[in-house]
Amino acid sequence: MTPLHLGSPASFGALRAFLQDSGYSEETVCERYGLGAQHEILGSSRPAPPAGKRDAAELLIRLFITGGYAQQAELTQHFPPDALAAAWELGLVTPDESKPGRVYSPVCLYPLRRLFIASDRWTNPDGSPYTPGADVVYPAITRNTYRFLGLLPSAPCERLLDLCSGSGVAALLAASGGARLAWAVDITSRSTRFAGFNRLLNGVANLTALEGDLYEPVAKLAFDRIVAHPPYLPSAATRWIFQDAGVQGEEITRRIVEGLPDHLTAGGRLYCLALGADQRGRPLEDRIRAWLGVAQAEFDVLVAAVETHTPEQIASQPLLRGEITQKEYASRRASFARAEIEAFVYGLFIVQRAGRPGRAPFTVRRQMGARTGSAELEWAVRWESMASSAEAQSLLLESRPARSRDLELCVVHRPREGALEPQDFNLQTDYPFSMESRVPPWTAALIAACDGVRTGRELRAYCVEDGLISDAVPAADFARLLGSLVSGGFLEIEACPLPRSAD
Ligand SMILES: C[S@@+](CC[C@H](N)C(=O)[O-])C[C@H]1O[C@@H](n2cnc3c(N)ncnc32)[C@H](O)[C@@H]1O
Repeated sequence: MTPLHLGSPASFGALRAFLQDSGYSEETVCERYGLGAQHEILGSSRPAPPAGKRDAAELLIRLFITGGYAQQAELTQHFPPDALAAAWELGLVTPDESKPGRVYSPVCLYPLRRLFIASDRWTNPDGSPYTPGADVVYPAITRNTYRFLGLLPSAPCERLLDLCSGSGVAALLAASGGARLAWAVDITSRSTRFAGFNRLLNGVANLTALEGDLYEPVAKLAFDRIVAHPPYLPSAATRWIFQDAGVQGEEITRRIVEGLPDHLTAGGRLYCLALGADQRGRPLEDRIRAWLGVAQAEFDVLVAAVETHTPEQIASQPLLRGEITQKEYASRRASFARAEIEAFVYGLFIVQRAGRPGRAPFTVRRQMGARTGSAELEWAVRWESMASSAEAQSLLLESRPARSRDLELCVVHRPREGALEPQDFNLQTDYPFSMESRVPPWTAALIAACDGVRTGRELRAYCVEDGLISDAVPAADFARLLGSLVSGGFLEIEACPLPRSAD
């Protein structure tokens, strides 16, 4: 059961118009609460309402975000009659039985980019301790969902599937901003109903919200973009459907990847924000590849890590939060040890179905830096696809590589025979990814010569003339080296320029 009711398009329209006209936006919330981003409002259980303005926006924030009470008279004062009637009809306000004349909202409803999103509350209106139910609708106003949405591409697509959609926020944003058709699938009927409600509230016609286990309700369909923010916390038992995902936390992510051969079209991509494990001798990106089964040669895998955790950190976090016992903690540690887990990687997993046969698939991992966003991730997939094509060698030899302007070359000098000698050469950059690579001295000299004027072929000739490399070094090997320097973000070529949108 959800407290929401599906009203008429006119009711949704009246409410939407009021929310828009009253300046109920992320900017307003951030400005009034002094926040850098709206999700920070979840940091304290009940942030104090800012002193000053008692207008419609303040009422909406109190009622629908911080989750307090309001007087019916305030509603009458600030809501236009049609919007107030709609709020009652849609189940967005309910009387407080303990105090006549007082109301609260049984849900949360917040602005998010150009949309308004309803999800379950995370507090009680009277401030008493709140325990969410197993099927609680995950608030899109969390830091994790903001990260997920921020890493998704904004480019248009044909058919988008949002798996584990919760409030439906990712599918709604896509459907209202570039996807021709979108589907939102969630296993709980509660989340599915909220996604359907949000669809009507935002007047989005090209979205279908379906209830079911991953691909089951869309079994016969294929998509060119699949996005997923699944449950990923290791847990033998499911206490909360939005977070618990089997002993290793990979239960849902693995099944999402296993379904790609049947549901991703050629050239299509999966974007999945989750946690996965590096096992001894089997890094996460290789394991994701293995989950693709016999079709794996058709797919590329890129793991863009946000954070890496030790097994101890992952096992102890729920213990420290008081969610598990010492015995359960010990059992987690033992199961991680049995699975030979060396680290847990939290990040975005991109799986691409290569559009061109004959290209070798790539499997890479990158560490995100402070300026890594969706444009940098798109760049990485585009570049790695080019670099693994048959034309890569000639492309690199004919292009004019230039040093990245974010590059740092750190040279360690050590005393030797009475002088200080340069000995260790380290290339570093934090853009587009955070990368560090120890290179031989001659590679440092090569980088210095990459001025954006000389071609790869001319650079090879320069290195030979200067005695940096032997003439016997094949052009193919030299091109491969240039390619790996571009992959690392140390060099840039015209055919695949870095986005640098953050600048
Ligand atoms: C972390 S929440 C993410 C919700 C939303 N995508 C977001 O980013 O705000 C994970 C969601 O996955 C759903 N879920 C869990 N297991 C599922 C399954 N097997 N199939 C579909 N949805 C599932 C949960 O109900 C929950 O809504």
